[in-house]
Amino acid sequence: MNTMSASPAEACRGTLVWDLPTRVFHWLLAGSFAVAWLSAESERWQLVHVTAGYTVAGLVVFRLLWGLVGTRHARFGDFVRGPGAVLAYLKSLVRERPQHHAGHNPAGALAILGLLALAALTTATGWANYYEIGGDALEEVHEFLANAMLALVIVHVAAVVLSSLLHRENLVAAMIHGRKPVAPSEGIRTPWRSIGVLLLVAVLGFWWVQWQSAPAASATGPAATHRDNDDD
Ligand code: HEM
Repeated sequence: MNTMSASPAEACRGTLVWDLPTRVFHWLLAGSFAVAWLSAESERWQLVHVTAGYTVAGLVVFRLLWGLVGTRHARFGDFVRGPGAVLAYLKSLVRERPQHHAGHNPAGALAILGLLALAALTTATGWANYYEIGGDALEEVHEFLANAMLALVIVHVAAVVLSSLLHRENLVAAMIHGRKPVAPSEGIRTPWRSIGVLLLVAVLGFWWVQWQSAPAASATGPAATHRDNDDD
C-alpha cells in the first residue's frame, strides 16, 4: 500500500507505522478500561464507570471502522491471520528466531481481536445492567467478561514487554510516537492527524457532556433516572 521515501533524518527517527487515530484509540481505550475497572464497585462512581464504559464501546466502533478504511498496519487485512500463521510465529519464538512484523505479529493480533470482542461484550452487558435488563444473571456475566478482559490485558502487556525484549525494539514507545525501526517501504504515508484529533475531541466532548450531567445523576441515582424516564 502506501510507502514513503525517507530522508536520512527520518530514517534515524524510524519509519511511521502507526497512524495517529490508532495511537489515540489505543491510549484512550487503555485509560477508559482502567477507569471503568477501578470505578466498578462503587455506587458513588457509577457515572464515571458508565461514562468509561460508553467510551470503550464508542472506541471499539471507531476501531472496527478504522480497521476497514485506516492505514496499512491498522487494517484488519494486514494483521488478522489464520491459526497456521499464529503457530508459525509462536514456533519462531521457541526457536529463538522470532519473525519480525512491522505491524502487529499474528499472536499479538489474536489478543487484540480478543480484547476488542471482550470490550464489545463487556460494554453491551454493562449497558443492559444499567437499564436493568437481564437481572442478576447478566450482572454476573458482565463481571465475568470484565475479569476475562483484565486477564487478557495482563497477557497483552506481558507479551508487549516480552516482544520488545526479543526484538530489541520499544513497542510501547512506538505506540506513542508511531515509529518503528523498519524499512521505509514498510511505513505509511500519512499519520491522519485530523482524524486522530477529531477522535480525541469527540471523546473529550462526550466526557464534558457527562460531567455536566453529573449533579443531576448523582442526586437521583442512574437507575432512578432511568425509572423517571420510563415514567415519562
Ligand atoms: C500499560 C498498558 C498497556 C501497554 C503498555 C500497551 C501497549 C501496547 C502496544 C505496544 C501495542 C502495539 C503492539 C504491537 O506493536 O503489535 C498495543 C496494541 C493494542 N493494545 Fe495495548 N497496551 C496497554 C494496555 C492496553 C489495554 C488496557 C487495552 C484494552 C483494554 C489494550 C488494547 C490494545 C489493542 C486493542 C491494541 C491494538 C491497537 C490497534 O491496532 O488499534 N492495551 N498495546
